[in-house]
Amino acid sequence: MKKLLLVLILLLLPTLASAQDAAAGKDKAAICGACHGVDGNSTIPQNPILAGQTARYIYLQLRDFKEGRRKDPLMSPMAANLSKKDMLDLGAYFAAQKHTSQNSKGDSSLIAHGKDVADAAICTMCHLGGFSGQNEIPKTGGQHYEYVLKQLQDFKAKRRTNDAGNMTAVLRTISDEDLKALAAYVASLD
Ligand code: HEC
Ligand code: HEC
Repeated sequence: MKKLLLVLILLLLPTLASAQDAAAGKDKAAICGACHGVDGNSTIPQNPILAGQTARYIYLQLRDFKEGRRKDPLMSPMAANLSKKDMLDLGAYFAAQKHTSQNSKGDSSLIAHGKDVADAAICTMCHLGGFSGQNEIPKTGGQHYEYVLKQLQDFKAKRRTNDAGNMTAVLRTISDEDLKALAAYVASLD
């Protein structure tokens, strides 16, 4: 019995030691601000907003950039030297920031068509209503149009493949024109 308890404690220790810490993340985030905004509300449409993103998803993306499962010439080098604790702290910090941007783009008929395409594909089954995200599934509501469109195109063309097939499968039958409508709709949400 005692032995079992010790094993349990030993298993739990690393989890406790790597608990995420938003305050530590704030210091580590200084370097990210140039591209993502100091509080994660990026004003550059190609750079994703991190404010209000789920901590788990941010951690997983940083890990994937570091390990080469997701690649980007600007972002990959930024993740290269982060430790697991750094990634967890950064995730905690950005998740706790308030998403303040409003990124509507495109006219109302394009946005309405995007909603129809999203409803037909049942995107919210995973992303939840308003594309608010949960755990490893990203919040994409209110994300920059340009960034969202690039990700949809990258998934469809299998240039981005760190999604365990979830996104590549759902986009396979959606036309390139409809990807623009989807991006306009998603960006228009809060
Ligand atoms: C030189 C600019 C630059 C800097 C500095 C930078 N990033 Fe990025 N980051 C990017 C770009 C560009 C992308 C989008 C890549 C793509 O299009 O796939 C990105 C993507 C990301 C993503 C994925 C977000 C998503 O919605 O999938 C995360 C998380 C991230 N960055 C976190 C960070 C953190 C944390 C730091 C600081 C340690 C940082 N970035 C520093 C440019 C930068
Ligand atoms: C079966 C679940 C599932 C469905 C359905 C789904 N997604 Fe996703 N989506 C995911 C997951 C998981 C990720 C994150 C993949 C990763 O870790 O890289 C993602 C990533 C994304 C991203 C990239 C976000 C970012 O910050 O880089 C966008 C944009 C997106 N989804 C939009 C959509 C749209 C639009 C639809 C409907 C057409 C949809 N998704 C349907 C699971 C799903």
